[in-house]
Amino acid sequence: MKQTLTAHVGAPGFGKTERRDAWWLEPLLVVLGFATFVAYSTWAAFQVSNYSYGPYLSPFFSPYIRPDWWPANWSTAFFVLWIPGGFRASCYYYRRAYWRSLFASPSACAVSEPKRDYTGETGTIARWLPILHRWFLYLSLIVLVWLWIDVVKAFDFDGHFGIGVGTLVMLINVALLSFFTLGCHALRSLVGGNARCFSCAPGGNARYGMWSFVSKLTQRHKLWAWFSLFSVGLTDLYIRLCAMGVLHDIRIV
Ligand code: FES
Repeated sequence: MKQTLTAHVGAPGFGKTERRDAWWLEPLLVVLGFATFVAYSTWAAFQVSNYSYGPYLSPFFSPYIRPDWWPANWSTAFFVLWIPGGFRASCYYYRRAYWRSLFASPSACAVSEPKRDYTGETGTIARWLPILHRWFLYLSLIVLVWLWIDVVKAFDFDGHFGIGVGTLVMLINVALLSFFTLGCHALRSLVGGNARCFSCAPGGNARYGMWSFVSKLTQRHKLWAWFSLFSVGLTDLYIRLCAMGVLHDIRIV
């Protein structure tokens, strides 16, 4: 049976409210953040050069996949980007953020929506989102392993161990991505969600340890979501500027 939610606040109309605080600030910052990232990442994903420099590889292009049949003037980023893109689009925090900021549904508590009725995530696709999100989590964990491998390779300068600014940029980026991915609500549910009693369950101590670790990251999921989003873009930008000769990568080799 179709579920209908009819919650609404006062008269319909975009942004009608009696609130006097700056309730609009967070949705506005979210829109600006999304717009900046989407504009840059879309541009970068279409580029066919300058995505690597020495041992550094842009996270938009990792894992690097280029089949022989793939045209030379087509970007390879699209083999990979649908995974982190789908993971973030189905993330519990991002869904809240874009429903509020992009679709004003609602923009904030006690603020009217443009339409009369709040229907929530009741469509067929919306009902599948939590399951879809878990599958994107599995795929994102594989991509995360690849990104750690890229960081290890970033210490290798033509067979010599070394550290460059790019190495540190990539290391910070993958650490932030790990905090975001390992703090996923779906992962928290996976490691501990169905255990009523950790001490009675098989492997209970290990599961309790994992659940406690993931729970700590989950508490700051919004923070890691934004930090990791911008670190991915900035890592690509740093490598790109080095490859273009705009920046000089300082190294100790
Ligand atoms: S809930 Fe945000 S990544 Fe899973």
